[in-house]
Amino acid sequence: MPSRKVVSYPVTGERVQMAKAAVITHSVYGNTQKVGQALGRGLKEQGITVHYFKVEEVDPAKLSRYDLLAVGGPTHAFRMSKPIKQFLGQLKGVDLQARYGFAFDTRFNNRLAGSAAKRIEKQLKKLKLKIIRSRESAIVTGREGPLAEGTEDRFRQIGAEIGKLFAQ
Ligand SMILES: Cc1cc2nc3c(=O)[nH]c(=O)nc-3n(C[C@H](O)[C@H](O)[C@H](O)COP(=O)(O)O)c2cc1C
Repeated sequence: MPSRKVVSYPVTGERVQMAKAAVITHSVYGNTQKVGQALGRGLKEQGITVHYFKVEEVDPAKLSRYDLLAVGGPTHAFRMSKPIKQFLGQLKGVDLQARYGFAFDTRFNNRLAGSAAKRIEKQLKKLKLKIIRSRESAIVTGREGPLAEGTEDRFRQIGAEIGKLFAQ
């Protein structure tokens, strides 16, 4: 089980456990970003500190201190989008203290659709992150969305389940 960092509050000296998660997404039409935000809400419910980053804006070096990296992007041409691929390439040079990774994607509900998350997860493993939970796909009903009904609830739930692992 993941270990949470124990910190002491100033003055009261109360000791609380906190874990920090970075949710990093690429999103052309906003669907993957919504999924990432839903995931983050679930994590927060379990007391995890969550920071959101757009893949085009994130400084990979700033990700070294997170306990969990959740990386999501749209499926483009059956695999991950170019910005996600570039970002994961840049992570190779970062001294990652994050021990855990989680991959997700958005894609069509079609067995020939391919999956960005499959590739993202493989790269996260190569970066020596432990996969805290197997990858998940969110379904879009058209190229620009919307997300299939109930998707955000499902990802909030997934976030909460992952968050609970840190609480054990
Ligand atoms: C250039 C391009 C290629 C795409 N190729 C695929 C594909 O191979 N498989 C698939 O399931 N969806 C494909 N899609 C649809 C994306 O899955 C969809 O646009 C995406 O999930 C929407 O998420 P976003 O709003 O975060 O960009 C493609 C979309 C674009 C723009």
